[in-house]
This record gives sequence, structure tokens and C-alpha cells, in this order.
Amino acid sequence: MTRTATASANTNIALIKYWGKADEALTIPTTSSLSLTLGGTRTTTTVSFEEGARGADTVTIDGVRPSPAQVARVSRFLDLVRHRAGLTAPATVHSSSTVPLAAGLASSAAGFAALALAASRAAGMELDARALTRLARRGSGSAARSVLGGLVLWNAGKDDETSYAEQVVLPTAQPDGPPDLAMAVMVLTQERKEISSTAAMRATMGSSPLYPAWVESSAVDLREALAALRSGDLPRLGEVVEANALGMHAAMMASRPAIMYWTPRTLEALRAIAALRHEGMPVWATIDAGANVKALTSGACGERVAAALRERLPGVSVWLRRPGGAARIEGV
Ligand code: DP6
Repeated sequence: MTRTATASANTNIALIKYWGKADEALTIPTTSSLSLTLGGTRTTTTVSFEEGARGADTVTIDGVRPSPAQVARVSRFLDLVRHRAGLTAPATVHSSSTVPLAAGLASSAAGFAALALAASRAAGMELDARALTRLARRGSGSAARSVLGGLVLWNAGKDDETSYAEQVVLPTAQPDGPPDLAMAVMVLTQERKEISSTAAMRATMGSSPLYPAWVESSAVDLREALAALRSGDLPRLGEVVEANALGMHAAMMASRPAIMYWTPRTLEALRAIAALRHEGMPVWATIDAGANVKALTSGACGERVAAALRERLPGVSVWLRRPGGAARIEGV
């Protein structure tokens, strides 16, 4: 018998970053993080367990077989699900993304969130949202946040039980309401990053004298970001979002040897964002483990900001994305 389920999840961009693991085996982060799930960035994954069959798992991503290391990572994750469900069957996994890889949005966050939901359901488990975020976390830390929609807080916690993500619910009774957010994703390069986030985190933690300071300031940044969201103050949010990401990159650059994801285009994009801000547009930068820059702005100004960035950075594609929904089961 074959047991199958299909699920999808959107990617998310951290407003306050996750950078470093207190426990690598369980993916317990050193800091709590806050993110925005982006609409229109879904990865859809089908998992089929072939009961009675033997052999290895087979994986395809957008029709292509990934590297042996990537397959091994998926298999290790499926082992967690099999162990809990008491299954030994090998799985067939097909994953496809609605956004082209070139957009830099087809991330491991969406991939492992969709895989966690599809695999657990195919294995006959009905996990609640919190348990699903904890399971997705084991595949890739940021995947914990892609299980949920909108604004998401991943509580660092101390162990498997307490390290989970939850949706941030803002009071709706604010005079101006919570900020209406959007993200303009700038595709500056399509090259793969030279060092994976897992390896770069390990190196930053192990050798950067600035890392402890970033961890400390991150707790303050998170409180500030949540306060800004609660009071509906976008400039206050934007400032702390940009500072938190630049601080993370400063800590990476101070690693020995240095970890430098930036290219000259990264700096150009940062300058373009600062210039637009000086002209009065609400826009702030954030950068993940790569050279591409994402611009946080308001939903109301999103189109104008995206158009201005396209004009100032010729040849760069800019994707405007609004908040998106949670992981879900497809096709039932
Ligand atoms: C810079 O979640 O990809 O995007 O847990 O090792 O798989 P692993 O790392 P991953 O790291 C994401 C790092 C980041 C910041 C963030 O998303 O919070």
C-alpha cells in the first residue's frame, strides 16, 4: 500500500534573524527570531511511503535529482517521521516551487515546512501547529517559521519541547492598525552561495569576537521590533530590522577567516534603499545568507518602492511580495 500526502508552504524572511545553534542536533537556536511569511512563494511537496518496499528514498526537486548530500538531509528528516510513526517504508518525495529558483525565494524554509506537513500526514500523524513547527525546525531552523502565516515568532527555547514557532497576533484596536507590510525582493545574483548557512553559523559562533555582542543585541532588537509592531510604527520597525541584519553580517565578517556574502551589487542596493529613504519613502533593508537584498516597506507604498528600486538598479529584477498564509495540505 502507498500512503501519500501533498502539502505546500510559503517561504519567510526574518525581520530579526536566526544565526547560530545552541544545539546543532536538535536545531535549538541561540536567539529567538521574528519573520514575515511571504505570499506567492509556495513550495509544494508530495511524499509517498511505499509500504512493504525496501531501498532508499528517492527525491526530486523541480524534476531534478538533488545532490547526494541534499538527499541525505531529506532522508535524515524522513527518519524522524518514520521513527515517530513506527514506519520503515522508503519514501518518494517530489517537490516543486511556484517561484523560479532565480528569484532566490525557493528556500529550504518553505521546502522543509512543506515536507514536514506532507511527510507527517502521509505517515498517518495529525500534528498540531506547534508540533509541526518543532518538526520542521529539525529539517532547517527557518522552516519552523514557514509552517505559519503572516508574522511569526520562533521562540528559541531550551530544548525540543520549548523551541517552537507561533503566530504574532497584533491588537487590531490600534488607531492606525498594525503596519501593512510588504517585501521587495531584489535578485542581484543567481549564483549559489559559497558557504551554507549551517557552516557559516558554526564558523561565526566559533571564531567571531562580535558574535556574543550580536546575540545580546538581538534580544533587545526583538523586543523593539515587537513593540514597534504593536504600536503600528513602521519606521521604528524598519530601523531595527535593518540594524539587526547588518549586525549579523558584521559578526560574520569578523569571523576568522571572514564570511563575506556581499558583492558590490549588495552595497549598491543598500545605498539605493538609503537614498529612497532620504527622499521620504518608507523602506529598509535586510540580507540573509547570500548577496541578495530584500527591502521591507509598507503594502501601500510597495509598488512605488519596487518601481523606484528597478529604476535605480538597472537589470535587477524586483519581486514585490505581501504577507502570505500558513503551510497547508493540498488536493483533498
Ligand atoms: C540568515 O534556516 O537556512 O536566513 O537551520 O542550518 O538550515 P539551518 O539554517 P537556515 O538559516 C537561516 C539563516 C538566515 C536568517 C533567518 O532566516 O532567520
